[in-house]
Amino acid sequence: MTKCLVTGGAGFIGSHLVEACLEKKSKVVVLDNLSTGRKENLPLSDSGVEFLEGDITDRALLRNIKNQHADLDYVFHLAAVPAVPLSMQDPVNTHRVNFQGTLFLLDTFKDLALKKFVYASSASVYGNPNRVPVREDFLPVPLSPYGADKLAGEHYLRIFNDSFNVPAVACRFFNVFGERQDPSSPYSGVISIFFERAMASKNGINSSLEIYGDGKQTRDFIYVKDAVKAWLHLAEEPGIRGEVFNVGYGSSTSILELAHKVREVLGADIDVNFVEPRKGDIKHSQAEIQKLRDTGLDFDYSFDEGLKRLAEYLEVKVQSES
Ligand code: NAD
Ligand code: UD1
Repeated sequence: MTKCLVTGGAGFIGSHLVEACLEKKSKVVVLDNLSTGRKENLPLSDSGVEFLEGDITDRALLRNIKNQHADLDYVFHLAAVPAVPLSMQDPVNTHRVNFQGTLFLLDTFKDLALKKFVYASSASVYGNPNRVPVREDFLPVPLSPYGADKLAGEHYLRIFNDSFNVPAVACRFFNVFGERQDPSSPYSGVISIFFERAMASKNGINSSLEIYGDGKQTRDFIYVKDAVKAWLHLAEEPGIRGEVFNVGYGSSTSILELAHKVREVLGADIDVNFVEPRKGDIKHSQAEIQKLRDTGLDFDYSFDEGLKRLAEYLEVKVQSES
């Protein structure tokens, strides 16, 4: 039986990863400070999950975890301040968590015989590239402290892979969406916000979809179950290490198109408003995914299937709550 440490495991992507690890009969230790994650996202009773509430910047805590779990096979590192705008408002705190936290984890767990250390990087490392789709070997020029810290984390992963024999891989996630993505903050993922507002409007609450800028900016949205499938595939392939992989579908959707799709999939007649563009916002983002495909990975879903599944999940949730 394998054992995984999942940082940020009470969050959106982390909780789906925990679920997938449990399906593979792994033991799972979750480290999360619950800043944006929620315990309710985790199956805690009798599931094999040990939940530790704490911070990845607490080095003494990390050392204790290492001593108590010296038999760890995998470190899956997702804990982060996950929003670009928050990093523009408070670059120092973002750096402390997103960069220092990553370094502390690498440094603490480098002595264990890990099968893999997997890191949640981001498409934001690319900034505004000369052309899309973006390939892993394009020169990254991040536009935000968030992107810069994710990129610095990738460099440290490679250094620990090459010089300290930590088998490490970074997933450059594009825009991940799906069940349990929290819509409650203005910095939440756009799909979670649009779905929440469209559901409210369907239920008679006055609401609108706000688009920052002209809505022509594009994103490569990937359904969370496929993002997690890619992550575990890269973790479990022993020959893959010291590398960075784009994790998206390789497609591109404008925010305006997204607004129409959300209205359509939920059958919601909701207005769309245009407001000021967001600072640090990337214009176009689309992944080239040949490198990922060459590892033998196939996805189980598509963007439209993911949207449909999310709509069904939310409809059932609303019914069960009313
Ligand atoms: P999330 O906010 O749901 O998850 C982040 C988790 O980390 C939360 O549970 C939070 O409580 C925890 N956390 C934050 N700071 C912590 C700290 N100092 N110590 C311990 N735990 C801490 O966000 P998510 O969307 O699930 O993102 C997960 C990871 O994937 C992040 O690293 C994010 O940057 C990255 N990512 C996400 C996307 C996306 O589209 N959602 C895209 C690219 C990269
Ligand atoms: C997202 C992730 C980030 C990740 C990056 C990788 C979240 C919260 N952020 O950032 O962790 O590293 O993808 O590509 O998941 N928008 C609107 N109206 C809204 C909300 C957003 O028009 O109500 C627009 C934004 O201006 C942006 C686009 O939608 O152009 C996507 O925004 P958002 O979902 O916040 O994601 P990213 O900033 O791309």
